[in-house]
Amino acid sequence: MSVKKLTQLYEGKAKKVYETDDPELLIVDYKDDATAFNGEKKGTITGKGVINNRMTNYFMRELEKIGVPTHLVEELSERETVVKRVKIVPLEVIVRNITAGSFAKRYGVEEGIPFDAPAHEFSYKDDALGDPMINDSYAVALKLATAEEIALIKKYAFAINAKLRELLLGFGVTLVDFKVEFGKLADGTIILADEISPDTCRFWDSKTGEKLDKDRFRRDLGNVEGAYEEMARRIFG
Ligand code: TMP
Repeated sequence: MSVKKLTQLYEGKAKKVYETDDPELLIVDYKDDATAFNGEKKGTITGKGVINNRMTNYFMRELEKIGVPTHLVEELSERETVVKRVKIVPLEVIVRNITAGSFAKRYGVEEGIPFDAPAHEFSYKDDALGDPMINDSYAVALKLATAEEIALIKKYAFAINAKLRELLLGFGVTLVDFKVEFGKLADGTIILADEISPDTCRFWDSKTGEKLDKDRFRRDLGNVEGAYEEMARRIFG
């Protein structure tokens, strides 16, 4: 495939997005930049972009096999991937299996308590508002998506959770929680967009409980690069 990288469309916290000579395709370029707490904390995680690009694409290929459509078209280079152009549904879809992070804080519980069943949460994707938590009917009221689209997004999110858990178990990693985003193609099809990586998931070593994700950066736990490298080693050898 030969798509030409044209002008930069957008620079996000962790990725740059470029237009291509095909109006339906974009190129994402994964950076080593890391932020936390809505951009308040900034840093660099050397090598992260390369790992997140490869890992995201690996997970997306596996998800396509179980019927979850994704924006993945082709990995172009270590940091660049061709993806389908979508209109992002402004919802951050979080699925949790174990108490951690903002759930533990909000509800005053310890981290590490397994749920009886996976649970989901939506945030309204709006940095200026601080990505406030939102429910299904408010998302419909704000016309962020239709009720049918939200039902499909939830179905996909739980299917993604089940598949990722199964894959990660094989690598000795427990999937605590994760965040995904979906987009809409011009014909209205909902597909998984954005990334699936240690930036957007909580990965704990199944035996030791060691954190192998961005919480090492968020919480200044040290060995941040080592955690990303360890995840890459487990998956890709
Ligand atoms: P939380 O416990 O802080 O709400 O995070 C839940 C999951 O979502 C966790 O795996 C990290 C991921 N996440 C993002 O991908 N982006 C974000 O901006 C935040 C706050 C969390």
